[in-house]
Amino acid sequence: MVKKGKKVTVIGAGNVGATVAFILAMNGVCHQVVLRDRNTEIAKGKALDMSQAANAARSHTIVTAADDAAEMEGSDIVVITAGSPRLPGMSRDDLLMINAEITKEVIQDVKKYAPDSIIIMVSNPLDVMTYVALKESGFPKERVVGMAGILDSARMAHFIFEKIGYGSGQIRASVMGGHGDDMVPLPKFSTVAGVPLTDILSEDEISEVVERTKHGGAEIVGYLKTGSAYYAPAKSTAIMVEAMLKDTKQIHPCAVYLDGHYGHSDVVSGVPVALGANGVEKLFEMTLNEDQKERFEKSVQSVRSMINVLKEKNFFDA
Ligand code: NAI
Ligand code: 2OP
Repeated sequence: MVKKGKKVTVIGAGNVGATVAFILAMNGVCHQVVLRDRNTEIAKGKALDMSQAANAARSHTIVTAADDAAEMEGSDIVVITAGSPRLPGMSRDDLLMINAEITKEVIQDVKKYAPDSIIIMVSNPLDVMTYVALKESGFPKERVVGMAGILDSARMAHFIFEKIGYGSGQIRASVMGGHGDDMVPLPKFSTVAGVPLTDILSEDEISEVVERTKHGGAEIVGYLKTGSAYYAPAKSTAIMVEAMLKDTKQIHPCAVYLDGHYGHSDVVSGVPVALGANGVEKLFEMTLNEDQKERFEKSVQSVRSMINVLKEKNFFDA
């Protein structure tokens, strides 16, 4: 049962943010969606358009645009998709710094106006931005969660389906680790209607699925050219919002703060968690074999090295 009066603010009304808002408005999972963007005209136009779509769909969800950050007051969940794309001449570290500054800026508003909310981070580099959101908000670690694992697992499931041609909707793919080239697809934990993937595809076929999953985002950028994926990212984010608002306690791979889990501390990575009204209700530590452990370790280290770039630039002291 969805409780009446649930409110979700989406910061960043670009491709992903607007699509998240649209999905929420269409499925009626919350009472109000607030769209906020530094380009307020864009947020206003999209909110108006979505409100009209909600009426067409006979959905009770109201979509508004926030001129003022105060309009996020009372939000149960704040989804952050605000970010800058990588522009020509910009290094990865330049982009890291720019998006970290944007995250820091919007988190000040969340702290002020929605101090009891759960933050769902989407902006890239995802695991590092989730770490920034956690440190800058001072929120408990259970209330700052990053979206990536649901998306990466959905991509892997799709690539498995493309290979086998059956079992659509019955494929459960598993991916953990950071949202980057070092993510850790787990074929040994993936099944089709309970049948282990390793009994369905050959080693070579599984390797192809794993490689394509790791580069799933880049493959779409290659086609779109001026932007990145947003339908699957937005649906994955909406799944997290719904699990929290309905307090389903469903288990999903999400980017969370590791505090000794899997042998790592003071870093964010993707692991299976149960999502509910309190955000992260439980974190599951799976038994990994040596190869899986090694790959997870590599993925964690690549996130840690980006966090260290921010630390070296005294980002967290300013
Ligand atoms: P976009 O460029 O379409 O939208 C970004 C929006 O953020 C723009 O409308 C911009 O005006 C706004 N913005 C920038 N600074 C702001 C600020 N200080 N306050 C309010 N709004 C601000 O980008 P898109 O495609 O929506 O992607 C958003 C972010 O999500 C990117 O960082 C992208 O890399 C990331 N992403 C992450 C995924 C994941 O799996 N975690 C998947 C897909 C995208
Ligand atoms: C993606 O994986 C860009 O992170 C984004 O599509």
